[in-house]
Amino acid sequence: MYRRASRIFRRGPRPQVRPHPVDLVESLEHAEGLDGAIRKLSAAVQKALHPGPVKDALHGVPAGHPAHPPLTDVPMGCWMSVAVLDLLPGTRKASQALVAAGLAGAVPTALTGIADWSALHREQQRVGLVHALGTATASALYAGSFVARARGRDGAGRALGYAGLTVLLAGGYLGGHLAFRQAAGASHADQVAHLVPLGWHDLCSASELPDGWPVQRRLGYISLFVLRDGEDIHVLTDRCSHLAGPLHQGRIITDEDSDPCVVCPWHGSTFRVSDGSVVHGPATGRQPSFETRVLEDGTVQVRPRT
Ligand code: FES
Repeated sequence: MYRRASRIFRRGPRPQVRPHPVDLVESLEHAEGLDGAIRKLSAAVQKALHPGPVKDALHGVPAGHPAHPPLTDVPMGCWMSVAVLDLLPGTRKASQALVAAGLAGAVPTALTGIADWSALHREQQRVGLVHALGTATASALYAGSFVARARGRDGAGRALGYAGLTVLLAGGYLGGHLAFRQAAGASHADQVAHLVPLGWHDLCSASELPDGWPVQRRLGYISLFVLRDGEDIHVLTDRCSHLAGPLHQGRIITDEDSDPCVVCPWHGSTFRVSDGSVVHGPATGRQPSFETRVLEDGTVQVRPRT
């Protein structure tokens, strides 16, 4: 009987598994051969970018989310439009103007991307480096396209444009992987609204909190940063919104208004402990914060701030 069954389920030829594009990108995440270049480039960018308003603007702190992704729409939109216009008669000037507009838009797009890239995990930086090489190559091809068109060599200009678009789309695919699979730019703070029921929750005893020194406490599934500052008790989610660094291991400083802030130990994002607002990036998303109260018996209670 077993022999018969084995005949029925005899193993046939192995099905051919074609590599999926995402498999190639996942292998790129582990391409350690890129690390030497990444270390040097990353150090150079961090040396050039001093903490302050320019760096914060490049990260997108004033906007409340990363500046790089929406800026990519400018060159991408312009150059996609060129690809369509180049198929139509009488669009020479419009195509040339859009190639130039795309090149102008590529400058802030690249600067914001480089700033964000310098403060990512290594796996993200490997994908990001190849993404940047792709988009830089696309920009160079469009620059060549612009020059060719300006010299009246429209055929060469169109060919360079289509080559640039092909490389740009490949680079854009890597950018999508970076943003949606590796979550670069997304908030990594705990989703408090989904993890903490409404109302007040017992957290700990006020007497066990050292003054001026952050500690970690747990509330159900989530880890909290807790700082006692005299009579005040400040509570934030502990996983930094940038890339989930442990805020309770961060430094406590004061901002220009003397409000206490915590500096994330991983990439230096700075949050006001009173409400989790971002003082300095690379984080752009507010750190979820909690209201606190102390009961007569000394129990500290917290509830999510809405
Ligand atoms: S994890 Fe990057 S600044 Fe906190």
